[in-house]
Amino acid sequence: MIEEIKKDALEKGVPIIKDEGLAFPLNFIEQHKLKDILELGTAVGYSAIMMAQSDDDIRIDTIEKNEEMYDQALKNINERKLNDRIKVHLCAIEDYETEKMYDLIFVDAAKAQYGKYMEKFLPNLKSDGYMFFDNMIFHGLIDDPEKITSRNLRNLVKKIIKFREMVQNDERFDIMMFDNVGDGILILNRRKCET
Ligand SMILES: C[S@@+](CC[C@H](N)C(=O)[O-])C[C@H]1O[C@@H](n2cnc3c(N)ncnc32)[C@H](O)[C@@H]1O
Repeated sequence: MIEEIKKDALEKGVPIIKDEGLAFPLNFIEQHKLKDILELGTAVGYSAIMMAQSDDDIRIDTIEKNEEMYDQALKNINERKLNDRIKVHLCAIEDYETEKMYDLIFVDAAKAQYGKYMEKFLPNLKSDGYMFFDNMIFHGLIDDPEKITSRNLRNLVKKIIKFREMVQNDERFDIMMFDNVGDGILILNRRKCET
């Protein structure tokens, strides 16, 4: 049961996507018939399993650098017999190289690196493909970063704000921003004419 993964993750403090944050991408994937997915940030495989279970034709590559998380993700995926459709790669996102093209790149790791990941994986996004970024309102802190007392957190929030501003003026994409979904989801749609 998928609920077991969720319960176990919550008990161990593993950061998995919230239900309301996941329902939205699952609907979006179905509506737009997205089949080839690259996920940045596997944790224990919860979101990858949910996406793969939503349609038998979905294939996912997902990247995780933490060995313990990776082992648990493999176990969870194997137990659900999804290992032929979900491939977990044990490596840092920064080091992952592929020539494969994806319909959707689902970014759920290292928020401070969103801009870098966007540039790194753009060549792997099909024309008219989508990139999803979670935590775009960052628990409501985006509106007033100066009020945050922790310096690290303030810097992180500033980076998210900068990323949001940067993509607003990027002509390679059409942008959709959903502040009211989960922790805020930003979707970039690669323009068809862009090569
Ligand atoms: C928010 S969790 C992913 C949750 C998962 N998508 C889910 O909802 O089930 C982020 C994961 O990304 C991994 N991560 C963070 N930075 C990374 C990096 N630079 N390379 C690879 N994995 C990274 C963390 O170890 C963590 O397990």
